[in-house]
Amino acid sequence: PRCFALVPAAGVGERAAQGRPKQYVELVGRTVVAHSADALMQVPALAAVLVVLAPQDGAFEAAAPMFVGPRAWVARCGGATRADTVAAGLQALRERGARDEDWVLVHDAARCLLRPEWVQNLIEACVDDAVGGLLAMPVADTLKHGPGQRAQRTVDRRDAWAAQTPQMFRLGLLERALREAKTQGVVVTDEASAIEALGLRPLLVPCSMENLKVTLPQDFALAERLLRSRA
Ligand code: C5P
Repeated sequence: PRCFALVPAAGVGERAAQGRPKQYVELVGRTVVAHSADALMQVPALAAVLVVLAPQDGAFEAAAPMFVGPRAWVARCGGATRADTVAAGLQALRERGARDEDWVLVHDAARCLLRPEWVQNLIEACVDDAVGGLLAMPVADTLKHGPGQRAQRTVDRRDAWAAQTPQMFRLGLLERALREAKTQGVVVTDEASAIEALGLRPLLVPCSMENLKVTLPQDFALAERLLRSRA
C-alpha cells in the first residue's frame, strides 16, 4: 500500500479574522498553506500530496508557487464543512489511482509548523496498525466546559489528549467512517472522531505543542515567532 497526504484547504477562516482565508496569510515570507504543503513534500514516504481547495479558489497557485511537480496534486472540490472537503478529496485520490488499502494522511493546512520528522514518526507508528492513528498531545491544562464564558463544569483531563494532524487511516475505512458519521449525524471535527464512531480506537502518537493550528488572530504572531526561531 502507498501513503498519500490530503490537505483540506477550503475553509474561509472566519475565526482568524485576517480578511482572507487563513491558509493564505503570510508568515516569514511564505503562506500558511505553503508551509504545510512543503513540510509534507519533504517526506519521501508520501507518494503524493493532494491539496483540496474550494471550487472558486483563485489564490492557491500564487500562494504556493513551490508546490509543483509529479507528487504535487491539487483538486478544486472542497465542500461546506471540513468533513465534506476531506470526503471529496478522498474521491479525488481514488480518481488518481488510490485504492482501499492505501493510507491517507489528512493534514490541516492551518497546522503550518508541521515538521517532516513528525510525519515520518506517525507513518512508522501506524503502518502496521490495524486501525491507524493521529498525532496528539496529552492535555496539560484543566479543561472547562461552557457554554459561553461561564464555566459549567470541569472536564476530566486524565486520559485527555489534544488531537492534531496528520491523521492516518486507510482510504476505504476512512470513506466508510465519514459516510456513516454523516448518516448518523455524528459531529466530525477530525478523521479520528469518525473512526471512533465505528467503535475502532485510533492510535495516539505523541507529538509536540509546536504542532499548533492557526485559528485565532493571536495565533499568527506565535506561529511566526516559532518559524523565525527555526530559521
Ligand atoms: O476551521 P478549522 O481550523 O477547523 O479548519 C481546519 C482545516 O480545514 C483548514 O485547513 C481549513 O482550510 C479546512 N477546511 C476545509 N473545508 C471547509 C472548512 C475547513 O478544507 N469547508
